[in-house]
Amino acid sequence: MKLNNSEYNRLKKLVDEHILDFIPNIDPKSKTLYDSMKYSLTAGGKRLRPVLLLAAVELCRGNAAEYLSFACAAEYIQTYSLIHDDLPAMDDDDYRRGKLTNHKVYGEGIAVLAGDGLLSAAYEVMIKNMLMYLDEPEALNRRVRATYALTKGTGCRGMISGQVADLESENKECSAEMLDFIHDNKTAAFITSCAMAGGYLGGAEASMMEDLRIYGNNLGLAFQVVDDILDVIGDAEEMGKSTGKDAELGKNTYISVYGLERSKERAHELIGKAREVMEKYYDEAEVFNYVLDLLESQIV
Ligand code: IPE
Ligand code: IPE
Ligand code: MG
Ligand code: MG
Ligand code: MG
Repeated sequence: MKLNNSEYNRLKKLVDEHILDFIPNIDPKSKTLYDSMKYSLTAGGKRLRPVLLLAAVELCRGNAAEYLSFACAAEYIQTYSLIHDDLPAMDDDDYRRGKLTNHKVYGEGIAVLAGDGLLSAAYEVMIKNMLMYLDEPEALNRRVRATYALTKGTGCRGMISGQVADLESENKECSAEMLDFIHDNKTAAFITSCAMAGGYLGGAEASMMEDLRIYGNNLGLAFQVVDDILDVIGDAEEMGKSTGKDAELGKNTYISVYGLERSKERAHELIGKAREVMEKYYDEAEVFNYVLDLLESQIV
């Protein structure tokens, strides 16, 4: 997908240039572990979550470069979640980010472990950063809050519970309530936590934290509705992953429950809500608005 906003790309470049910097020094005997983690981390990806985290830091007039370890940690978590999501035991996908999935190259066992490695690397890098601030309570406080936000968004009351519900509702009738639970947790919780983590790191006041939460939640929900739509009408080449998989796996998606037209309406409605909450920041919210434009442009 073409990302053509210079502010978005400036932050994405920061992430891309440093994405391997925070991986722990892995013993050469575990070279396969390092290679498999690196393979998926450098396969591409829009870097939406770390970019949002850094954009929120900058919205608070903070210095993005200072918080790269947290941004990269978010991308480690994102990449682990995709490696596991693609496994035969989950969505059984062959392509991701335009390349063969991790397990197709390294085998299932290594792919599980590459995901585990990325997840633990995320916490290692955030905790290592916090250790440098033990004598600076205010700086430490911001980092602890950001780490906790990411932990909650991606943990057992966030992304993982959404992934469990997604799997368990395959080939079953799905209530509107259950569909909301899946979308809230498997996708929106993580995206919200990235915007909020950036807010905490940048020292946002309560009202801005609430704006970031509302923005993240609406963007996150819209993001999954659009992902569900693109699984039906999108171009596999452009997305770098297979299409038509949701129907094949009997997934409950926005499309399967509401149909294409209502799904598009819902996406526009959610994008509108996210846009509205950022209006008061004018040009300073450029990256936040660009992400919404990009999403909307995919379902016109
Ligand atoms: C894919 O996320 C997983 C979903 C929540 C739909 P992205 O579309 O952000 O994937 P990458 O990181 O750019 O590959
Ligand atoms: C995945 O949702 C969300 C994650 C938490 C990884 P999907 O299973 O729809 O994501 P894609 O379509 O494989 O990217
Ligand atoms: Mg899935
Ligand atoms: Mg999937
Ligand atoms: Mg999908």
